[in-house]
Amino acid sequence: MARPSTPAALAIDGDRLLRRLRELGEIGADPRGGRTRLALTDADKAARELIVRWLSEAGAAVRIDRIGNIHGVLEGRSDLPPIATGSHIDTVVRAGAYDGCYGVVAGIEVLQTLSAAGELPRASVAVLVFTNEEGVRFAPDLLGSRVVAENVALEDALALHSADGCSIDEELRRIGFAGSVSPRELRPSHFVELHIEQGPMLEAEDLTIGIVEAVQGHSWWRVVIEGVANHAGTTPMALRRDAGATAMQLACALIRDAEERGVPNVATVGTITFEPGAINVVPGRATFTIDMRDDSVYSLRRAEQRLHEALLRLDRAGYTTHAQCTSRHEPVVFDDELCGLLQRVAAQRGLAARRMLSGASHDAQMMAGVCPSAMIFVPSHRGISHNPAEHTEPRQLVQGADLLLHALLELANNPETCHAPSSL
Ligand code: GLV
Ligand code: MN
Ligand code: MN
Repeated sequence: MARPSTPAALAIDGDRLLRRLRELGEIGADPRGGRTRLALTDADKAARELIVRWLSEAGAAVRIDRIGNIHGVLEGRSDLPPIATGSHIDTVVRAGAYDGCYGVVAGIEVLQTLSAAGELPRASVAVLVFTNEEGVRFAPDLLGSRVVAENVALEDALALHSADGCSIDEELRRIGFAGSVSPRELRPSHFVELHIEQGPMLEAEDLTIGIVEAVQGHSWWRVVIEGVANHAGTTPMALRRDAGATAMQLACALIRDAEERGVPNVATVGTITFEPGAINVVPGRATFTIDMRDDSVYSLRRAEQRLHEALLRLDRAGYTTHAQCTSRHEPVVFDDELCGLLQRVAAQRGLAARRMLSGASHDAQMMAGVCPSAMIFVPSHRGISHNPAEHTEPRQLVQGADLLLHALLELANNPETCHAPSSL
């Protein structure tokens, strides 16, 4: 292969990027549509094995840490700390092909492009593939990056159980990804995550790139309300203690708060179940989950307070309530200098970009506690994500990966240009 004369001429292999995204997207295919590749299942194992193979083909040294994060490192010319990128390959139920996977496959593409060019950058470049980002099978979400950031202790993370009774530790061992390396082993100087937007803004504004400067906070709760199961025909409305109706009223009130008062910014009741669960029985027990997100820590706390006040009122009215926080993170502001570098490289590559907020959670928000971090977004068609219809134009996927390549190259060759020690 001809060696490019300048780093600016380096280009990723767009066909290989798209082909790999398709191949990865076939793992865990769900007969109902899309793919369901929950963390540490057999499908996740198969996807991880493919990623390890691609990382090795890209010339990276691969290590697995104790929480199952995959570290692929392309050695640089010096012993400067590595520049890292990465994301996740676990999915939600009936997911699209790009959420998380795009950042991982594009990161591998960057490593492969650099090693094929034969001119290694000064600093090493690493791809991190984080365990259980989605938090569907095991809560909390962002687990692999939380452990790296010491937001959750390794022992506590390994002891977490899924609803089907499996622990993270057992499942990591079962699928062969309980590594021995410390999750803190790789100490990157910078972290840049490439991801699809999962929202409608970039497409609406006809922009190619979003430079993510902040992520809104989230607060996830599992709420249980216990009333009294009774006969649906004989129990007068005034004499019921209907856990189902009460849970629906509370869920609707929380959603209405988001719609009318904008506190929190968004609220979602994604699951609700009633017990015993029969057409002619007043529910004796109702369980629902609520996901509340806001870019202001005060508004997020206000929304949590309103949930707790409502539960106290129900306790006083004779119901028994339990609320368990399954995941929480306050809003995160990314590194301004790193965002500036991404914006500058986007402009050099002729890509129309603007700074923006992320509504979704990402591993980069945990990595922001480890080193200067930021994110790059590419558009999501009609803003659809967590859905098999998730789509980004192939051209935009290639443009985002090209920006990642040149941003990482700039950082790896001149890490001191971002966060140079002050001369004062
Ligand atoms: C992760 O996809 C999230 O729930 O934001
Ligand atoms: Mn994601
Ligand atoms: Mn997701």
